Amino acid sequence: MQRPSTDRNLNPIEAADAASLAVHTQDLAKRYGKTVALSGLTMSVRRAEVFGFLGPNGAGKTTAVKLLVGLARPTAGQAWVLGAPVGDLKTRRRLGYLPELFRYQGWMKASEVLSLHCELAGLPRSEWKAEIAGALETVGLSERADDHVEGFSKGMQQRLGLGVALLGRPELVLLDEPTSALDPVGRHDVREIIRQLKERGTAVFLNSHLLSEVEQVCDRLAVVDRGRVIATGTMSQILGQDGAVRVRVTGLPAAGRASLRTYGNLEDEGEWLTFRGLASERVPELVSEIVRHGGRVYAVEPRHETLEDRFLQLLKEQEA
Ligand SMILES: Nc1ncnc2c1ncn2[C@@H]1O[C@H](COP(=O)(O)OP(=O)(O)OP(=O)(O)O)[C@@H](O)[C@H]1O
Ligand SMILES: [Mg+2]
Repeated sequence: MQRPSTDRNLNPIEAADAASLAVHTQDLAKRYGKTVALSGLTMSVRRAEVFGFLGPNGAGKTTAVKLLVGLARPTAGQAWVLGAPVGDLKTRRRLGYLPELFRYQGWMKASEVLSLHCELAGLPRSEWKAEIAGALETVGLSERADDHVEGFSKGMQQRLGLGVALLGRPELVLLDEPTSALDPVGRHDVREIIRQLKERGTAVFLNSHLLSEVEQVCDRLAVVDRGRVIATGTMSQILGQDGAVRVRVTGLPAAGRASLRTYGNLEDEGEWLTFRGLASERVPELVSEIVRHGGRVYAVEPRHETLEDRFLQLLKEQEA
């Protein structure tokens, strides 16, 4: 097995860790002709971690997953999955993958689809029965094992796809929009499945634009837009919960507003000013500074951002 190189672009900790990480990428990029689908992706996913990969349509999420499972080749950069370079055939057996768009043969029974994938994954035949029963049970399709896929609803097909991704106890599971066809119960079930995977030490790479879902299950996440990562970190790092305060102010001249930028990342919405990254001890000082500049303060409130607010704001900053 080729070890990750001690490329001088990797810092020493990253170089040492790359082999023990579930995923590590360094300046990974993919072009389709003139289209830059993904550029300069550098990130790590640890073992037993749930990593969310978020972005609007066309951001490059599916491209990233395809590169990681070896279905597309990078045009630049490097990536390792479970310590091996991407595309390594032996390593692929240790991955679970739920593609974004898939269709199983309608004439096959659910259990037959799973058998086929046990075979493709090279699982010993003696294990198939238990694997298939376990997968069906996990995704709530035990009763439908002998039904043909053509009679399955979209959500049932997605459950079956998830069952396929879980066969053989993979060490890393990549799920590309696993709940796009699911009802609220199905979404809840998928969150539970993801939590169970994490508990048993499996890393999960979750592509999604369902922000509340990501918020509930992911340990860390990256936000991508037009092929580039625009933010990465833990949920609280992304949300900036080290302190966000919203202040309602009138009568504050432009010069006064400008001077307040030292109090944190300022979002100016007219009467409402939001300061991110502001320690709570500095709030009284901020208020007196506003007053000193002639501003009248009507409200000071802590701001609890949702991932959706933050996501939209990140995209707006990117536009600017
Ligand atoms: N096979 C392909 N050939 C040409 N262009 C492609 C191909 N696959 C993806 N692209 C382009 O790459 C960009 C990223 O696409 P990708 O499917 O990775 O986005 P995504 O983030 O998964 O979007 P969505 O949320 O809609 O699934 C898009 O501009 C897309 O048109
Ligand atoms: Mg996609």
